[in-house]
Formats: sequence, structure tokens, C-alpha cells
Amino acid sequence: MTVNKIHVKAPGGWMNDPNGFIYYKGEYHLFYQYFPYDTRWGTMRWGHAVSRDLVVWEHRGVALFPTICEDQNGCFSGSALEYDGKMYLFYTGVHYHKPDPKDIHHCLDEQFDSAQLMLCSEDGKHFDNFKGKQVIIPPIEDKRVGDRTHTRDPKVWRGRNGWYLVLGSTTEDGRGKLLFYKSNDLASWSYVNSVSHEPHWGWMWECPEYLETEGGNVLLLSSMGIIKDGKREENQIICAAVDFEEKGCVMSLPDTFQYADHGLDLYATQSIKDEEGRQIMVAWLRMPEAVDGEWIGMLCMPRVIEVKEGFVYFRPHPNVESRYTRQITAPSEADEAGYRVSLDMEEGERLDIGGYQIFREGNRIHTDRSAVFGGHKEYRLAFETPELRSGCHLDIYVSSNIVEVFINQGEYVISNAVYGLTGKLQFDSMERLRLCTLES
Ligand code: FRU
Repeated sequence: MTVNKIHVKAPGGWMNDPNGFIYYKGEYHLFYQYFPYDTRWGTMRWGHAVSRDLVVWEHRGVALFPTICEDQNGCFSGSALEYDGKMYLFYTGVHYHKPDPKDIHHCLDEQFDSAQLMLCSEDGKHFDNFKGKQVIIPPIEDKRVGDRTHTRDPKVWRGRNGWYLVLGSTTEDGRGKLLFYKSNDLASWSYVNSVSHEPHWGWMWECPEYLETEGGNVLLLSSMGIIKDGKREENQIICAAVDFEEKGCVMSLPDTFQYADHGLDLYATQSIKDEEGRQIMVAWLRMPEAVDGEWIGMLCMPRVIEVKEGFVYFRPHPNVESRYTRQITAPSEADEAGYRVSLDMEEGERLDIGGYQIFREGNRIHTDRSAVFGGHKEYRLAFETPELRSGCHLDIYVSSNIVEVFINQGEYVISNAVYGLTGKLQFDSMERLRLCTLES
């Protein structure tokens, strides 16, 4: 079986969203949207990877795959939870009414239905795709509640008074919308309430997640059509500190949102509490081309989500951070999983990491991947953070197809897909850089 370090990657073929992230019986399980037959999106199943420490991941093959009418055209995204020692998986089943006769993985004219399904596994190892599936929320008939096609990605959590489930959807006038449901037994769910934003924050909200942290509660959304600048991608992860009143499922959204990552390549988060109770997340790194023609799609490294004074921070997970213990003097000495460069960057300074540029200007961090992105001009090549609050410490994790720049321990993050980084490192005062890699 394939093993990945730090970043979970498609073990051949195509990967998109992480799904069903859970700490279960002493191990982390991560599932993901998977099409093994080609390096493009197709009829979805859930691939499965397992780790003891969030660092070394072992792939375990396919967990969920289409078997019933409701999910015949795909097992879309969803979440997991543990109850009574069992692992419950919640996901969206898709049924096409008009498959494209020339490519049955796609649907014509958006003629499809989405239902919400549940599968219970006794042990997180066996998944009874033939007898174990249950439809918990059929396609929505009432347009005032939600859209029968564009309603998906159930996230389930235990609240103070029962189980809650949130779905991403769209309003009749084309704004992103969330639908909240409640249950006492995980099997029968009642619709309680919805929320959307005016002016719109994109037309459809995918992969919604509501999380509680010590410093405040967070909503994470993957919003379709939130950036319309003619460049890829229009769909982005946004987040905000929110209030949620459980009884009536009333969520109050603020006026403005934050981007979870200013590299604008990540999408579709999965968040859980780790074994220490930290709120952590991973997300899908969108990539424009397959690596060695063999695989496409990977996940960012796990991050800890924290809220301070209404602002959401994303810092590297300590299990990952603490593995970079071996000091090196050049990238050529690094472990194959990559290396970390740390420094305090002054205004006007510039660092070149194998062709990927990072510089500080106007008290913002800017990055430019033009030289290491295979000439994909339809994508954004240059990025910047908002103005920094105070200081500018950078921890930059570099690996063959992803650079993750953490600024001031997660005040801002820029994560970018890259291709063909060289081993060169250039900075005016090299003695101020600290380079570390993993112990092999
Ligand atoms: C987000 C998404 C989800 C959906 C899945 C299908 O990337 O579109 O909304 O469940 O991907 O693969």
C-alpha cells in the first residue's frame, strides 16, 4: 500500500475533497473524493488513508463506492463521527437523470438529484456498501427550503442537545445557503432552519463546517463563484467567526469574511478535533496538471484553527511542525518529504526558493510562482496577504508540489501548487535563514 509523509496525495488517478476526517480508536482516518482510473474527475468514490500521528499516512484503498440508485453516479463529500464505538459516514449520493452518453461520468443540463446518505461501519475497516447504506435526507422537493440538485456535503456534529447536520445549498435567487437539521438518533433528521448572506458570498456553498473553539466559533465554507476576475479558481474557502444558537439553529453571520488561505489554491475543508482536543483542518490543493502523468490532487498539511478577537488563525499542526528537527544547510540535504525555511523578513526583502518568490512590500507578504507553474496562464500566479498586524515571521514548508507559507504563526497563510522547483535558495543574508528537514 502507498505511504505518504506530511501530505496525503492521490495514490494514482484523481483526488479532490478530503472527507470523513476522524480520530477513531487511536488512529486518524481520512477519506477523499477519488477517481482511480484517470487523472481527471469522474464518478466519485471515497478513497481511504489512515495515520497514527497525522504525519505518516497509509492508503487503504476504496471505502465507499456507488451501489444504490441514490448514489449510482457518485459518493460525494461528507463527514464522519463516532457513536457507540462505531464509525458513521455521512455523504451525498448523486443520481443523474441525463448522463452524457459520450462520458457517463458527467451529467447534461444539470439534471441530477442529490440525497444525503449514511453508512455505519463497525470498525472503520469494513464498509458494507451493498447492505449498509441508508438514505437519511431524500432530494429536497420544496424549493423554498433548498435545491434538489445543488444541496450537498453533510457535516454532522454532536451539539449540547442532540446531533446536528449542515448542508451546503443555494437560494432561489442564486446565493449560497446553509440548511440545518437535527436528530436524536442519527437516522431520522428534521429540517430546522437556514442561513444565507446578503450581499451574496458566492452562488453555492459547498463543504460547510461549523466548529467551536475556545476563542470563538467558526464557519468554514467553500464558496462557488466568489472571485470573478477571469482567472482560475473562482471557488474559494472563506471563513468567519460566527454565533450559533442551537435550539432554533440560528446562525448569525458577520458583514465580512476572511480567506482561509491567500494562495487561493485550497478548497473543500475537513475539520475535526484531534486527540488533544485542538480544532484542526485539512483541505484539497487544486493542481493544474498531473505529476508524471500519474496522479493529481493532494491535501495541505493539517493546520490548527484558532480564534483570537474575532480573527481566525491557521497554524501548522504541532505533530508536523515538531518533525522538522534536522538542521541542514541546503535543500539538497532534505528528506524527500521536503524542508522548512524560517526567517524574520524585513520590508523590501526577497527570498527565492527554487524559483518560487516570496517578498515583503507595503507590509504585506507577496508570492510569485510564475517560474514554477508550467506556464499555466489561466491560473493566478501572484498572491498577497492583507497588511500584517505586527512583525513578520515566516515558516515556509517546501515540498515537491506544494509550498505553504505561514506568516506570524497562522495570521495568514499562502499555499501554492508548484512544479519543478530547483534546489536553489537565494536571500541577501543567508545566515538569517534556518533550514530544517525531517529525521529520516
Ligand atoms: C467540492 C465538491 C463537493 C462535492 C464534491 C464532488 O469540491 O464539488 O461539493 O461533494 O466536490 O466531487
